[in-house]
Amino acid sequence: MTSEPDIRVNPAQQLLEGELIDRVLASFENTPDPRLKQIMQSLTTHLHAFIRDVRLTEAEWNTAIEFLTAVGHITDDTRQEFVLLSDALGASMQTIAVNNQAYKGATDATVFGPFFVEDAPEIPLGGDMAGGASGQACWIEGTVTDTDGRPVPNARIEVWECDEDGFYDVQYPDGRIAGRAHLFTDDRGAYRFWALTPVPYPIPHDGPVGKMLDATGRSPVRAAHLHFMVSADTLRTLVTHIFVEGDPQLEIGDSVFGVKDSLVKEFAQQVPGTPTPDGRDVGDGSWARARFDIVLAPDGV
Ligand SMILES: [Fe+2]
Repeated sequence: MTSEPDIRVNPAQQLLEGELIDRVLASFENTPDPRLKQIMQSLTTHLHAFIRDVRLTEAEWNTAIEFLTAVGHITDDTRQEFVLLSDALGASMQTIAVNNQAYKGATDATVFGPFFVEDAPEIPLGGDMAGGASGQACWIEGTVTDTDGRPVPNARIEVWECDEDGFYDVQYPDGRIAGRAHLFTDDRGAYRFWALTPVPYPIPHDGPVGKMLDATGRSPVRAAHLHFMVSADTLRTLVTHIFVEGDPQLEIGDSVFGVKDSLVKEFAQQVPGTPTPDGRDVGDGSWARARFDIVLAPDGV
């Protein structure tokens, strides 16, 4: 954004454009809620600066309206194209950065994504969140503590991920629930469950956001990850993922800018026949295991 005179247009035109901004800003002057007033006036300033910066044509403005209309039309209870758009523009990650500033050793947050669903089934400690979704069995374990190292019993952990073909259950045509669950830490703040070894997948790219990625030469593929949302009384709710060390997509880049080095974990491959932690029979296949110790910041920091 710039308040410098724009030498591409003559002074009379500059004055005209500036006066319009002043009138729009003034129209929000009597907004009763001071926060809403601040947001609307700042939005006005940045939006007009953008239009003037690129000297937006009327055809381009129409294209933008058509694009946003298409984003709305494809959005329903299970397809959230606006979240995808925010993610693909890095706006989700920037909002997370602003709201989850580093605090002592608290675990880093990352994007929520469009695939969380309320009321996922509860599983016991050691239960299987895959719910029949296909993929390599993967044992996940860890602890939840506060930033003073105190265990957090009864923390609620939501986990969700795609199957080995890169699909979340909400993308299945038959409506079944798989690859998502919630569980609670034990009295020592520990947790463990069976999941699937995460694989890279493309964000849905058959809609307007996909067209945008295509037109700009960008890949829709996300680095392999397992989603977590962890909440407990008096502590800041953490929305994050863990990523898979060695995943080539980490080098290529994550389509929603969600990777943080601290969230890349070893998913240790176990040769077939290696006994599982709980005696589960995983057949003749290999399995994997990963550890994720979660540290929650206090609420309000
Ligand atoms: Fe995801």
